[in-house]
Amino acid sequence: MTIDGYTRTCGLIGNPVEHTLSPFIHNTLAKLLSHNLVYVPFHVEEGQVLSAVQGAYALNLLGLNVTVPYKSQVMEGLIEIDELAEKIGAVNTLVRVESGFKGYNTDMPGLYRAMSSEGIQIEGQEVILLGAGGAARAVAFLCASKNAARVYLLNRSIEKAREVAGEVNEKTGKDVMYPMALSDYHCLPNQRFLAIQATSVGLYPDTEQAVIEDEAFYRKIHTGYDLIYKPSNTRFMQLVQKQGGKAYHGLKMLLYQGIIAYELWNELAVSEEMASEVYEVLKKKMGM
Ligand code: ATR
Repeated sequence: MTIDGYTRTCGLIGNPVEHTLSPFIHNTLAKLLSHNLVYVPFHVEEGQVLSAVQGAYALNLLGLNVTVPYKSQVMEGLIEIDELAEKIGAVNTLVRVESGFKGYNTDMPGLYRAMSSEGIQIEGQEVILLGAGGAARAVAFLCASKNAARVYLLNRSIEKAREVAGEVNEKTGKDVMYPMALSDYHCLPNQRFLAIQATSVGLYPDTEQAVIEDEAFYRKIHTGYDLIYKPSNTRFMQLVQKQGGKAYHGLKMLLYQGIIAYELWNELAVSEEMASEVYEVLKKKMGM
């Protein structure tokens, strides 16, 4: 592409940002759609996130993604926050509006689109959610808002599980979240579940680890969805598959959270054909 006086800039703020795949998503979309737009990662030091947002506005940036560790902190610097992002308490996408940026959360709808594209349903499902950190919170809101029958929220620290489960039940007005200590997994009822792995265990370079090792646990899982995509076949996924379940990694979630952000910045809808083209680029980058 030619960068000229009309080129619009989007980007990513976080720390670290050096290993991000997001530029491949957005710059591929810009190319496929013949948009005069570039997407650049910006490494922002601790304590600088609010000045970064102000600076981005002053520099006429069209939009930003926000990653670890700033998804909550950034909310202070916004003039408006979308209702869903407000509920989740995390913003990963900033859209330029009249006099500042409006914050959205595209992680949750991104996961929903990724799951739907694999034919995975949440409505009416019995769900196990592993983890109670930032990523798990968005998943918990997704499961409650898409009418899962029940969600067992298992976390190493039970206090955090209780906190997230209580908050999700309260904010969605539903009584679907059941917090449990991770070590109590053997108390789960004897039935088969959709399990979503939202802890950081198993993430590269600690690829030999899974948050639970016991095969008896994995016999209860018909579908396992790991939010991790590096490695592309996590130990959690292998353990699910060994007991006959289907297993998925999180690369499509990454793809769709990016696509939804691009749609917000440019006020358009990205087709499924185009989403598949971008996914091929991502898979190649990951060596899949
Ligand atoms: P993220 O933004 O990726 O969700 P996070 O907010 O730091 O990251 O959350 C990490 C999650 O992985 C938490 O649920 C954490 O459990 P605790 O709340 O008990 O800390 C979980 N986790 C990390 N390392 C773990 C380990 N070795 N065993 C079990 N759970 C672990």
